[in-house]
Amino acid sequence: MSTTELDSLAGLRAGTPLVAGQQPTWPDQAALADAVAILESYPPLVFAGECDVLRDRVAAASTGDAFMLMGGDCAETFVNATADNIRDRVKTVLQMAAVLTYGASVPVVKIGRMAGQYAKPRSSDTETREGVTLPAYRGDMVNDFEFTEAARRPDPQRLVRAYHASSATLNLVRAFTSGGFADLRHVHDWNRGFVANAANSRYEKLAHDIDKAMKFMAACGADFDAMRTTEFFSAHEALLLDYERPLTRIDSRTGRLYDTSAHFVWVGERTRDGEGAHIDYVSHIHNPIGAKVSDKASPDDVLRLIERTNPDNEPGRLTFITRMGAGKVRDALPAIVDKVTASGAHVTWVCDPMHGNTFESASGYKTRDFEDVVDEVRGFFEVHRGLGTVPGGIHVELTGNDVTECLGGAEKILDADLNKRYESVCDPRLNHQQSLELAFLVAEMLAQD
Ligand code: PEP
Ligand code: CO
Repeated sequence: MSTTELDSLAGLRAGTPLVAGQQPTWPDQAALADAVAILESYPPLVFAGECDVLRDRVAAASTGDAFMLMGGDCAETFVNATADNIRDRVKTVLQMAAVLTYGASVPVVKIGRMAGQYAKPRSSDTETREGVTLPAYRGDMVNDFEFTEAARRPDPQRLVRAYHASSATLNLVRAFTSGGFADLRHVHDWNRGFVANAANSRYEKLAHDIDKAMKFMAACGADFDAMRTTEFFSAHEALLLDYERPLTRIDSRTGRLYDTSAHFVWVGERTRDGEGAHIDYVSHIHNPIGAKVSDKASPDDVLRLIERTNPDNEPGRLTFITRMGAGKVRDALPAIVDKVTASGAHVTWVCDPMHGNTFESASGYKTRDFEDVVDEVRGFFEVHRGLGTVPGGIHVELTGNDVTECLGGAEKILDADLNKRYESVCDPRLNHQQSLELAFLVAEMLAQD
């Protein structure tokens, strides 16, 4: 490893510490060192070769030869890493992917926001309730959601627990996607169940068209063995450097560094400073990476991210996940896309229609309106089509469960319904039905090409 790379893993540039935003204040440094040493001794969760495959897939999405679907919880939790929850989330992503594949007529790259999404950036380091101030909840990798002093104390052993929870999750995901569960025929049957619900009758025609395509392929003797398994990748925000750095390894084939905690990692909106420790860290790993980009980013900020993370202009290496808000995407996105295009940089554009559309409902829940989510994706497609660039994918917070966290959708979830089943410990997720509905709507947008 070069000195620069060693420095980078230590969070230094030319021997000087870089600023790493959003890190917990660990109360016990010796306990942190122990946890980091344990992580360093553990096997990788993913292999470099798999990350390279994903980089090729992401490159295909940048030219319209594939479409990326990234989805999962805002924040995974240890208690919810159960077989049923994991199965239902994978099932939801597979169902969405089947519909999108038909709409786009290109392969859909399936990426779970899972098996590592255990750390959260917060707007404040502390939280005050009824006069009591405690450390903010920073994700299960750091502390517990419960509002007590003991639960909120950052505990480095949680880094180790996050590794085990991620390992178990990924193991099950790999089993589901290679062991027959992901068979396209099952997935299609599940989707038939979705459109059989009267609320979703608007999507019957598309489902019927897919049905005909499936029958046509079967009649032609298409190789259904090839449809029994599917590629499925893992992704999370590379936020906690005390987790990502110890899981960074040298690939013995190429001598290059990879973050082996996930196939794809992204840097969030709050930590994407071109001169900060997070961008420095991802600039040294060889995984495909992403950066969130809000309306607050200037075109020059975005160019700086390209310079820092993809100086060799490798296709598939860098994805911009734009999250502008439905009301802003049409105004804020074009200048950024234009400048990137003019620079000649290869990037993949993905739309996160969730994080620019969060608000507090009258009843006090952090929520999002399904209409805004759809409108931001529409705006994203309009901007890219207008500029002749490629809308390469979507990134959504979703669950396979029937939660009531986002308003609207065909089931018309109202503010008064939010308290029925609001389970997210962070941002509101689309439930199973809303996720499928979004997939049908995006498939219609894709089919307009
Ligand atoms: C997130 O993806 O959960 C998140 C915090 O997003 P952003 O960094 O875009 O705010
Ligand atoms: Co979120």
